[in-house]
Amino acid sequence: MEKLVIHGGNRLTGEVEISGAKNAAVAIIPATLLAQDVCRIENIPNISDVICMERILTSMGAVVRYINKHTIEIDTKPVNSYIVPHEMTKKLRASYYLIGALLGRYNRAKVSLPGGCDFGVRPIDLHIKGFELLGATAAVENGMIHAYAEHLTGSAVYMDKVSVGATINVMLAAVKARGLTIIENAAKEPHIVDLANFLNAMGADIRGAGTDVIKIHGVSTLHGCTYSIIPDQIEAGTYMVAAAATHGDVLIKNVIPKHLESISAKLIECGATVTEYDDSVRVQGPRVFRRCNLKTMPHPGFPTDMQPQMSVILTVANGTSLVSEGVWDNRFRYVAQLTRMGANIQVDGKIAVFQGVPELTGTTVRADDLRAGAAMIIAGLIARGTTEIESIIFIDRGYEDYVEKLRDLGADIYRKEIREDGTQPNAAG
Ligand code: EPZ
Repeated sequence: MEKLVIHGGNRLTGEVEISGAKNAAVAIIPATLLAQDVCRIENIPNISDVICMERILTSMGAVVRYINKHTIEIDTKPVNSYIVPHEMTKKLRASYYLIGALLGRYNRAKVSLPGGCDFGVRPIDLHIKGFELLGATAAVENGMIHAYAEHLTGSAVYMDKVSVGATINVMLAAVKARGLTIIENAAKEPHIVDLANFLNAMGADIRGAGTDVIKIHGVSTLHGCTYSIIPDQIEAGTYMVAAAATHGDVLIKNVIPKHLESISAKLIECGATVTEYDDSVRVQGPRVFRRCNLKTMPHPGFPTDMQPQMSVILTVANGTSLVSEGVWDNRFRYVAQLTRMGANIQVDGKIAVFQGVPELTGTTVRADDLRAGAAMIIAGLIARGTTEIESIIFIDRGYEDYVEKLRDLGADIYRKEIREDGTQPNAAG
């Protein structure tokens, strides 16, 4: 088991390269099941969620070949099963995309309920409603989702709530359905558009991705393709916040600035300077942070996956800031960890009130989930003294080579091996 050790106080300066988008990759990999062919995927991030998804496909018979660290070829011709067991699906939320992809390939899917970050209840009723509107019967039995259809028929699908996962799953099931599917109140995140572009490269007919109405004309077959995944909006935003929080000056490269507009705007509101270039942004942190209010919303609003990271700046901003979590029921678990570092935060349901304090101080904290872990790193970077972060396996799920990237920017951060009993290997005595 490992933990992170951070000696705080260093400014981040220099350049960092952003990897491919995790939430696009974990949708595109299962989408390859929709063709009995070979797909070549480039700019794929080297993170554990992606490795886990590749292993699931391999367990189903697919052949996954690494061309290099960021390029894979997936041959789904040999896939011979529509069943995905619990031991494969429990590690990541996105495993439920296999339902839509397997329905599209076999008109049948039997997938164990997914795992993923714990933000309170994470229902899948909108996914099931979508599958049923396309003509499938879907039910949860013995912890597995069973979905079956004689054939899938295009339909109007109105999403009661904006849902990234349900929008993606309905798209996957609809691309080979008979006739037209119209998804209304669809999610508009960059990874929705990326998946639609990938499916269209496979021969699908999807229009309107990135708006709240997506039209899908079913086609009979899809074929393999070569596709490069977009840069990760949330990884980029995380480094933007880290640069600002440490009063640093960092050029974040290989980004799509339009995807970062809400994050740039919030950082500028707090006093940072953000300069946009074609495929990079430069972030310079202020000496003192202004307070601000934050409300997370579906895209193009401020991303919920950036809420913990941005909140670290508010712990030391001048004055009182309000954070309102507009997507998840319980995404403030990380507050207890920040409080251990001296933050002054009151949580009441989906609202948190931050009273700025002069500084955070280092101590031992844990990563409760992926983005909470990222927030703990940023807190450790700005805290006085040493911060140790446990449960960093969550962070490894979504940030490629983050220790190396941060060290290259001047952070004093390293991994430390610890045994199950808490002792450290090759420790003296
Ligand atoms: C995706 O989760 C992301 N995960 C999450 O990122 C992200 O926080 C979330 O979208 C919102 O942007 C992946 O892409 C793998 P939702 P997802 O369906 O699809 C409710 C990260 O850090 N809802 O958009 O599970 C739900 O409870 C992760 O990378 C229903 O009510 O999120 C929530 O309140 C963490 N019924 C809201 O909709 C449903 O059937 C949005 O959830 C589905 C969702």
